[in-house]
Amino acid sequence: MAFIVFEGLDGAGKSSLIQLLANDLTRSSMQHIITREPGGTALGEELRTILLRTDGEAPVARAELLLYQAIRAQHVENKIKPALKMGSWVICDRYTASSIAFQAGGRGISENDIKSLNDFSTDHLQPQLFVLLDLPVEESLKRIQKRVDGGQNKDRFEQEEKDFHERIRTSYLKQSKEDANLWLVLDARKSSEDMYKELKSKLIEKKWLKS
Ligand SMILES: Nc1ncnc2c1ncn2[C@@H]1O[C@H](COP(=O)(O)OP(=O)(O)OP(=O)(O)O)[C@@H](O)[C@H]1O
Ligand SMILES: [Mg+2]
Repeated sequence: MAFIVFEGLDGAGKSSLIQLLANDLTRSSMQHIITREPGGTALGEELRTILLRTDGEAPVARAELLLYQAIRAQHVENKIKPALKMGSWVICDRYTASSIAFQAGGRGISENDIKSLNDFSTDHLQPQLFVLLDLPVEESLKRIQKRVDGGQNKDRFEQEEKDFHERIRTSYLKQSKEDANLWLVLDARKSSEDMYKELKSKLIEKKWLKS
């Protein structure tokens, strides 16, 4: 069993890589859940809609941060902890590092304030591994644009300017350097299959998976 979090810019390929891992776990009959933030619970998914919508009143930066943390507290208590208790793997799309990257890096809120709130909302529950899908901002914007061309609307974060995304990428890279043992950084310009090979080696090295 393991608690693994995937982080990165929008369009970095988190969902695609998570699917490859989940397929492998299913093949090995290893119990796992896939979950995401913001969201993960019924209440969290309702709040996600409010957070990402582009109409209506936008939350101010501090309100936005607290809404994310409320979603996280609910998620940890009602979904992540029970799954771990049952011996299941938890694969989570975004977690505490996103709050630091988006709200400190992106919005300019103090990193220490966010760290305290992260500790509070998670009841100090850390994942065993953060996987960062590191992608140049130009490439992320290209992938978001492709989806827009395909008819999907941009959410509130995807509408931000390039510099906002640059600060998020910089924050992610800083976090991964500060706590190198906790992070695996992958070059997200690679194919999902190539990234998965690197991830799998790491999981085998940690003895979470058999080769
Ligand atoms: N390794 C890759 N190389 C090139 N394109 C990719 C790769 N992985 C995913 N894509 C494409 O980029 C887009 C986003 O992929 P995906 O949904 O997996 O990313 P994501 O990180 O989950 O994005 P989001 O944060 O918006 O949920 C999709 O159109 C997908 O086909
Ligand atoms: Mg996704």
